[in-house]
Amino acid sequence: MRYIDIDKYIKITKDHGHLGHDVNDLVAQQLEAAIRAAQNAYCPYSNFHVGAGLLTVTANVYGGCNVENVMYNGMSHAELTAITAAIVHEGSHMLIMEMVVWTGTDEPCPSCGGCRQLIREHAASKEVKVWSFADDPTTPPLIMSVDELLPHSFGPENIS
Ligand code: THU
Ligand code: ZN
Repeated sequence: MRYIDIDKYIKITKDHGHLGHDVNDLVAQQLEAAIRAAQNAYCPYSNFHVGAGLLTVTANVYGGCNVENVMYNGMSHAELTAITAAIVHEGSHMLIMEMVVWTGTDEPCPSCGGCRQLIREHAASKEVKVWSFADDPTTPPLIMSVDELLPHSFGPENIS
């Protein structure tokens, strides 16, 4: 992926306003974690760098990147590694308050179906927002709630 000056990217994103969506300091922290992680992605097979940054209800931010493998079906997605990092540090009851995903694409890239289910499992509520940012900081992010990403979803309460 191209080198990204993270401070500059965040400044442009904030200045741009994005149709009234507030890229506040907490979103900026998640974005920084996401871009930093994307730059560390291990993706020699797809060359598709993905970074995720999440905010937990206890106000910590964790990053994750995709980690590929030559056997191809052992892929770890950025959303998974960010959630894993958060659980490692906060424990199994970790809850997601908000999440940012970054890809070096022209348009914001939505998370895959498996990641949507994963985010839904650990989200504090179905109103939790997931922001997807693209390569160009002036491109408006795609902002969707967990319920919009995965409507009528299957969740832990369905089996209790
Ligand atoms: N990828 C993610 O990290 N998250 C997604 O939800 C979409 C796909 C990664 C997996 C693989 O390393 C690369 O992007 C191409 O699919
Ligand atoms: Zn995924």
